[in-house]
Amino acid sequence: MGRAFVYVILGGGVAAGYAALEFTRRGVSEGELCIISEEPVAPYERPALSKGFLLPESPARLPSFHTCVGANDEKLTPKWYKEHGIELVLGTRVKSVDVRRKTLLSSTGETISYKFLIIATGARALKLEEFGVEGSDAENVCYLRDLSDANRLATAIESSADGNAVVIGGGYIGMECAASLVINKINVTMVFPEAHCMARLFTPKIASLYEEYYRAKGVEFIKGTVLTSFEFDSDKKVTAVNLKDGNHLPADLVVVGIGIRPNTSLFEGQLIIEKGGIKVNSKMQSSDSSVYAIGDVATFPVKLFGEMRRLEHVDSARKSARHAVSAIMEPEKTGEFDYLPFFYSRMFAFSWQFYGDPVGEVVHFGEYEDGKAFGAYWIKKGHLVGSFLEGGTKEEYETISKATQLKPAVTDKEELEREGLGFAQTV
Ligand code: FDA
Ligand code: NAD
Repeated sequence: MGRAFVYVILGGGVAAGYAALEFTRRGVSEGELCIISEEPVAPYERPALSKGFLLPESPARLPSFHTCVGANDEKLTPKWYKEHGIELVLGTRVKSVDVRRKTLLSSTGETISYKFLIIATGARALKLEEFGVEGSDAENVCYLRDLSDANRLATAIESSADGNAVVIGGGYIGMECAASLVINKINVTMVFPEAHCMARLFTPKIASLYEEYYRAKGVEFIKGTVLTSFEFDSDKKVTAVNLKDGNHLPADLVVVGIGIRPNTSLFEGQLIIEKGGIKVNSKMQSSDSSVYAIGDVATFPVKLFGEMRRLEHVDSARKSARHAVSAIMEPEKTGEFDYLPFFYSRMFAFSWQFYGDPVGEVVHFGEYEDGKAFGAYWIKKGHLVGSFLEGGTKEEYETISKATQLKPAVTDKEELEREGLGFAQTV
């Protein structure tokens, strides 16, 4: 049993949705493109899962957040794929790939062959078991990567009203979920090994702004330690969390966000892997010329920094997807992928954006008060390489983005601090 397509996208997440739209815009014919995904639903905007999806009132539900609404573009419902002659093979895991023969084998036993393959398998959440802690499968321990995790978390939230939640991890999932839990009137304690939240990006000063606000909302922080074990009741539900520092925290619900691993295993030994991801060139093409990789799973050259990077954010998933499709369908007209890393988050009424690279010395500007600019610049070898801004307007975010792309020279850091946002406006 087998089917043949010109283009196959392996994975049905954010990058797959944006690639599909780009294929139709560049004139794919009926029956040429297939998307095969383990998830039972058409591609959707994954960021909604830790935000709108968890709201107590009118939570976001599909079909409202199918791609590509996150970029204010068309909403690709299952009907859209049908109308565009795109084969959507859902709820189907790909078990193996033979890159030399250009075939995939699905869990249903079907062989699918391709001329061009786009790998868009994203990543999986790291499990506590990988750090030596057992009990992740308890019904009130929640991870958050896909829709089924989000449904599980939403149900656990409903049955934990006025109860206690322990959030493990102080990264994106930890911070966004903690805010959502508070909004659902659940008491939250956050536990993480670092000295402050969002340690991969935030400086202590930036982190303190958010931590102070979270504390005012009742969130407790236990830093510099990790969880060592769970306690269970007779139904195998977690009742408490034990920490390395000796703390014992009663818990009705545990949310775990301790990082991810890219889903590369199907390609190990077949394609070059670098920095944990599938190595691609500036056209998103892997070490096999018929295979491309996009989104969280791809390690690509970031021209601006002259380095290979793997990014775990939605903007790079969207843009790398568009670029790969352009490179496949119009190779002569497609230049190098010239990408400025962009991260953002929203929690409570906060909203921040970051552009570039958080390396080198940091200059903060402004003090956070309603209506005033609060942010930071990162300077490396005398040039601006990263910019952070909380609560900016659309124009202000565009300004810091453009300035960071230009890597202007910074000669006087005190002046930069005084000028603040004004510096980016004059670049
Ligand atoms: P993605 O994970 O979206 O899709 C991968 C797909 O491949 C899945 O459908 C999976 O089932 C499928 N798959 C994997 N292996 C397979 C196999 N063997 N066979 C078949 N299918 C397979 N970023 C940001 O910039 N701002 C934000 O606010 C957020 N918020 C956010 C919230 C939450 C809860 C998460 C989990 C993540 C975010 N992100 C984010 C990160 C962002 O969502 C992420 O970078 C993109 O989803 C990456 O898109 P991909 O398509 O690469 O992977
Ligand atoms: P993360 O990398 O942002 O944070 C991981 C956190 O895990 C670290 O901050 C650390 O505090 C903690 N940690 C590591 N080892 C630990 C241990 N042994 N015990 C306890 N804590 C430990 O990853 P995440 O928060 O799990 O997010 C998963 C993915 O989803 C990431 O790729 C992230 O970019 C993405 N995401 C992005 C956004 C956004 O961009 N706004 C929002 C949600 C999720």
